[in-house]
Amino acid sequence: MVLRSRIIGCGGYLPDRIMTNDELSGLVDTTDEWITGRSGIRQRHIAAEGELTSDLAVNAAKAALKDAGISVDDIDLIVLATATPDETFPSTATRVQAKLGMTRGAAFDVQAVCTGFIYALTVADNFIRTGQAKTVLVIGAETFTRILDWKDRGTCVLFGDGAGAVILRAGEGEGSTADQGILSTHIHSDGRDHDCLYVDGGPSSTGTSGHVRMQGQEIFKKAVLRLAEVAKEALDHNGLTGADLDWLVPHQANLRIMRGTTKKLGVAEDKLIVTIDRHANTSAASIPLAIADAHGAGKFSSGDLILLEGIGGGLTWGACLLRW
Ligand code: UT7
Repeated sequence: MVLRSRIIGCGGYLPDRIMTNDELSGLVDTTDEWITGRSGIRQRHIAAEGELTSDLAVNAAKAALKDAGISVDDIDLIVLATATPDETFPSTATRVQAKLGMTRGAAFDVQAVCTGFIYALTVADNFIRTGQAKTVLVIGAETFTRILDWKDRGTCVLFGDGAGAVILRAGEGEGSTADQGILSTHIHSDGRDHDCLYVDGGPSSTGTSGHVRMQGQEIFKKAVLRLAEVAKEALDHNGLTGADLDWLVPHQANLRIMRGTTKKLGVAEDKLIVTIDRHANTSAASIPLAIADAHGAGKFSSGDLILLEGIGGGLTWGACLLRW
């Protein structure tokens, strides 16, 4: 029997305030038509003043705990992916640990920007497979709009705030449930591509938080290439093909990139989970938010084969193949 990490619950949280494309067109020289046509984004959620990444994360975590029907006392590890931590230190994960009232176990952050959730899942899955943890809360949470340059129309129209969480539990299935859970994870990075997407600040460089800088077209080209590569790597590793997939849950950065990957994999468009229209790009939160959204809509059935994939600053990219 193989020990696997199974998703036993998931949840998401979006701040109340919604900013439409039309509202944005009052701030920068843009239009709803341009934003929707180029990216698929129609609106984004914006965290309230004083609402921190850890607050969004706690709300998503509570929803995931409720969905799993377990209490915080059952969690022995929190792995939180974010590029917009509450503070330079300590980790946002420890803030979440305290806010949830969790007094045991360990909590730490993982930083891989928009690939952060795939990295966090990879770390959590390895803790479970080696027996170091039994029940892990994996969170992607961002207040990404706080690091936007609201004068740069090339970036400020693309991002939003939010959080998503899943709970992984170690399980050894038998018979039809034998391969339920995470089948494999695949992560990559190439630091030479730093200039494609970065923040022009930080504690050791400028002493300020800085703002997002992006070469959109460069990332676009690399995303199409890298995402197809890593998706194939995950499928090949498990002796599967795109035709075997029931669902594709990509990082929600651009609808054109998402559709391109879907086509390359030979997956029908109705198997693509899309939230970018409503959530925009929420960086590390986009995949767990999309999982929670699809689960809430009753899309996933037991045994469904699901591919998660994403790319982000670093550059970093990765994929995770799992059976629901
Ligand atoms: O999550 C991490 C990974 N990030 C990504 O995957 C992002 C990947 N990149 C993209 O999604 C796309 O490159 C964008 C949506 C960012 C941009 O779409 P594009 O089709 O690559 O547009 P572009 O950058 O080539 O710009 C086309 C034109 C330019 O004008 P000119 O030079 O043709 O006159 C831009 O100045 O659109 C202009 N433009 C805008 N116009 C209206 C750029 N931003 C805007 C805007 N509104 N917000």
